[in-house]
Amino acid sequence: MSTPAGELPLLALEQVTRRYTLPRERLLQPAPGVDALRGVSLTLRAGHNLGIVGESGSGKSTLARIAMALEPPSSGRVLFGGRDLNALAPGELRAARRDFQMVFQDPYSSLDPRQRVGRIVAEPLPVGEADAVGRVAEALEAVGLRASDATRHPHEFSGGQRQRVAIARALVTRPKLIVADEPVSALDVSVQAQVLNLLVDLQQRFGMTYLLISHDLAVVDHLCEEVVVMRGGEVVERGASDEVLRAPQHAYTRALVSAASTLGA
Ligand SMILES: Nc1ncnc2c1ncn2[C@@H]1O[C@H](COP(=O)(O)OP(=O)(O)OP(=O)(O)O)[C@@H](O)[C@H]1O
Ligand SMILES: [Mg+2]
Repeated sequence: MSTPAGELPLLALEQVTRRYTLPRERLLQPAPGVDALRGVSLTLRAGHNLGIVGESGSGKSTLARIAMALEPPSSGRVLFGGRDLNALAPGELRAARRDFQMVFQDPYSSLDPRQRVGRIVAEPLPVGEADAVGRVAEALEAVGLRASDATRHPHEFSGGQRQRVAIARALVTRPKLIVADEPVSALDVSVQAQVLNLLVDLQQRFGMTYLLISHDLAVVDHLCEEVVVMRGGEVVERGASDEVLRAPQHAYTRALVSAASTLGA
């Protein structure tokens, strides 16, 4: 997972911590808090998908939100293409966001039911984008929907189709990085493989890189060259997916792997 000298990583987290402080119940008591991330460092190289695995509550979604600059770290830095995202001016960050987009777990809550699909997919495009209609049509077709679907509302689509809409929205700016947090776990098992294959096809076609969060080790094994294993807000193991998932060094990873009956080999 080290980066060859001279090659700037696409994304780097440097010693990122995130503490959530909960409302203080009584004065004079220290405010209870949760350390969702504790000194997480990782790098993602262009073209090398990175999977994040770990039990529920290990900090995976927090990591995703911080990597996307949806919230700031309590300490540490998030560098995208070498630029510290949390040091950018609001306008610079808005422009930078076109290069990294996110796909969320639940395609029901992540799409505004009142908006038409065309409007939803166009949302990340810059205001005044001359060819918004064309870009939206292209993105919809790339995910296997029709350009005419732009006039429909999310409730007219199945779960799998909605996740395709969410992927089209992530794709519309032609980002360099897509962070996908459990992108298929809310979907019917019968459509999970279709959506995963779509992600693979889109990468071949458009060349973006994925940061993929999944509790399903088989999914990470299939899509990601490298994997980071998290527990309690810390990275406990990292390396090539082949090696980590087949010959885990850490007892926690071994427990995850033996619990995942679907992983072949
Ligand atoms: N906004 C928040 N406020 C307070 N605590 C939070 C917040 N978001 C996350 N946490 C806490 O931080 C820890 C990590 O949560 P996170 O959602 O990142 O885990 P996760 O690995 O994504 O879990 P899952 O697999 O269930 O999605 C948990 O203890 C969680 O309760
Ligand atoms: Mg999560």
